[in-house]
Amino acid sequence: MPNKIIIAIDGFSSCGKSTLAKALAKSLAYVFIDTGAMYRAVALYFMRHEIAFNDIAAIEKAIQSIQLHFAFNEATGKSDMYLNGENVEAAIREMKVSQKVSEVAAIAAVRDFAVAQQQAMGEQKGIVMDGRDIGTVVFPKAELKIFVTADPLVRAERRFKELQATQPTITMEEVAENLTHRDLIDSTREHSPLKQAEDALVLDNTHLNQEEQFTIALNWAKERIEA
Ligand code: DC
Repeated sequence: MPNKIIIAIDGFSSCGKSTLAKALAKSLAYVFIDTGAMYRAVALYFMRHEIAFNDIAAIEKAIQSIQLHFAFNEATGKSDMYLNGENVEAAIREMKVSQKVSEVAAIAAVRDFAVAQQQAMGEQKGIVMDGRDIGTVVFPKAELKIFVTADPLVRAERRFKELQATQPTITMEEVAENLTHRDLIDSTREHSPLKQAEDALVLDNTHLNQEEQFTIALNWAKERIEA
């Protein structure tokens, strides 16, 4: 049996982390975990229940009523996020959630809740997890850490094209503004801000297509698995 490792993928919003993580997991027969989906589901719960993001007592109470799990969707070939048994995969991708999620992800109690579950998911290794703090906080000892970057304009264009399919009224300005806003909050927050782990390998995909970035990352993974 080959050695199973943990692959941690971090980086700014919309720079292709999930696409890369999914492809690596498929190729290695590993489990892919999109941690952003967990923060999005918590944000959706708070929005639906009108929990104020500064009401710590209400947040701590609400968290006890939240159950998150992923389940594989045969039709799409990827895992969907479930919030208290409801498939919220589409709802958590809506712009109204994207506009609030960074504020929710900055709350210490929310991070403690999500990180504990993420660490439990990695106990058996054989996972590819993407997020903002995976290589720094969730799995500081991950065998492979990749920090993905891309030019902000290229990221906004890619995201805009992707969102247009499901949200046709969306504008490029809205998408670009949302990315800038999330990057700023994610990288300047007090708790577990987005930052490159010292031992992460940087993958700038501004001028790479998906296949090219996948090939680079897969080679890195193979090196670590065989080490
Ligand atoms: O990856 P994403 O865009 O779906 O993430 C949604 C938000 O959650 C984003 O603003 C950053 C935050 N996040 C985080 O703080 N830590 C993670 N491990 C994953 C996401």
